[in-house]
Amino acid sequence: MLISTSFLSSDNYPRDLKALNVTDTDLIHVDVMDGKFVKQKSLPFREMKKIGRFTTKRLDVHLMVAKPKKMIKKYVTLNTEYITVHLENEESIEEELEEPYLDQVDLVLLMSVVPGEGGQAFFKETTKRLKQLKKMIQKKNPSVLISVDGGINQETKKQVKEADILVSGSYIIKSSDFQEKITSLR
Ligand code: DX5
Ligand code: ZN
Repeated sequence: MLISTSFLSSDNYPRDLKALNVTDTDLIHVDVMDGKFVKQKSLPFREMKKIGRFTTKRLDVHLMVAKPKKMIKKYVTLNTEYITVHLENEESIEEELEEPYLDQVDLVLLMSVVPGEGGQAFFKETTKRLKQLKKMIQKKNPSVLISVDGGINQETKKQVKEADILVSGSYIIKSSDFQEKITSLR
């Protein structure tokens, strides 16, 4: 299992990003929020672009923004491995994930909480949605990876075994031993 560590709940991200350099986290998950798509606001890009001073890891950028196009252009200039955006219609993943999308993406980010805040409880329905998504991917484009984001800890990880990447924030960042928590998620 790959682990992408979110620093959204960090109260000192330069310190925590530096500490994550000496762990084996595969990616750093960057939650970008515009105050429109979600009511919360993250650091603006002019600040976010400086995180390369603190982290040596590749970035997994999660754009919770109303207008992703401009942001994609900005974030590709960083040490970025993945960029994920939200689709407009969130009613049915079957509709969202028709062939055109699955043919064009490397990764699907499945939200297991309401986007916007760290530290929320994992949605139980995620397990079912993940299984449906996995089936679709196997049928249409088996190379697509699945990342699950929100409420992931040592217990909830058991409910998302089909995932390739687990995004975890507060479980890791609020602990005193980042490596131990990361290891417990693999
Ligand atoms: C939620 C964010 C998540 C979140 C993960 O809006 O997209 O990335 O920060 O944090 P935890 O693991 O605390 O749910
Ligand atoms: Zn996220």
